[in-house]
Amino acid sequence: MSFKLVAKDKQARAGVLRTAHGEINTPIFMPVGTQASVKSLSPNDLIEAKAQIILGNTYHLYLRPGDELIRDLGGLHNFMSWPKPILTDSGGFQVFSLAKLRKLTRDGVEFSSHIDGSKHFFTPEKVMQIQKNLGSDIMMVLDECVPYGADYDYTRSSVGITTYWAKRCREFYPSGKQLLFGIVQGGFFKDLREESARQITNIPFDGYAIGGLSVGEPKAQMIEFLYFTAPLLPEDKPRYLMGVGKPLDILEGIRAGVDMFDCVLPTRNARNGTLYTSKGKINIKREEYKRDLSPLDPECNCYTCRNFSKAYLRHLYTSRELLAYRLNTLHNITYFLNLVNQARASIFNGTFENFYNHIKSIYTC
Ligand code: GUN
Ligand code: ZN
Repeated sequence: MSFKLVAKDKQARAGVLRTAHGEINTPIFMPVGTQASVKSLSPNDLIEAKAQIILGNTYHLYLRPGDELIRDLGGLHNFMSWPKPILTDSGGFQVFSLAKLRKLTRDGVEFSSHIDGSKHFFTPEKVMQIQKNLGSDIMMVLDECVPYGADYDYTRSSVGITTYWAKRCREFYPSGKQLLFGIVQGGFFKDLREESARQITNIPFDGYAIGGLSVGEPKAQMIEFLYFTAPLLPEDKPRYLMGVGKPLDILEGIRAGVDMFDCVLPTRNARNGTLYTSKGKINIKREEYKRDLSPLDPECNCYTCRNFSKAYLRHLYTSRELLAYRLNTLHNITYFLNLVNQARASIFNGTFENFYNHIKSIYTC
């Protein structure tokens, strides 16, 4: 068994997930390292921020520098010198969000590269082979993330294809050192979510993800489908909410019984000067910080907060110094990891609901 639940507080769960590169304490946030790099951070920085696992992207690494090259160079961990677990997304989502000229059939999806326009074809077997070459600890099945606004008939037939692809992925990699997660889709139709969950959980995966949320729907609808879908997943396997989200969304996910999260928000926002603190979000470029010698967040113990003033961070950001990206990203990643760690501690204490309400009072949206 690769997953063990160690505490529960209502639906919120604390667990331990065992992978080939070590154990992960859940709930966990996974910083996004799309192209074998969490933008602006070194592996040392990530370890300082207490990252336990990072995410890489099949789509990007296949296109550049190529999964066979990475395999020949000793695998993704060796290539980027990251010793801890890596999860790779299957490319399903990126093909639909980044690539041009997509053509989807039951066989797979044809697309042209966002880099040079070259044509490629992803099948379930192909994305499994790529992820085997990369050597990630957790692989994801090929799926279709149904766009927001898709109608019932389109979504129903898409659910069928996603299940068919999921079966082919499991058959290609029945078991081994790498874990494989299935992905539930179904758009914004409860019977289709139910059907997708039933079909996907019938296939023996090592974990189950909720896909197709946070794709442009109103917040209330995201929350509604999150709370609807999470309980459809097996209790004894890790649950992953893909591409979510803001601090409060992550807390909603944990409250609904989800264990794993990833999002570009902390890294992307850091590069825009939007920083998360125990008092809420701030924009470091504001005039009011010009002479502010206080740390970004006195409650944060990251390298940035231990050593630099808001005045200095504002200066770095407004002068477009490269160090701004690194210090801001280090802080935001530390904030997200502290958030899930505090949630974990509160689950052990039976005080998760208080922690959730506390975070809710900080972020009104
Ligand atoms: N990232 C965010 N949402 C999704 C999804 O629905 N599927 C996949 N594969 N990745 C995602
Ligand atoms: Zn900090």
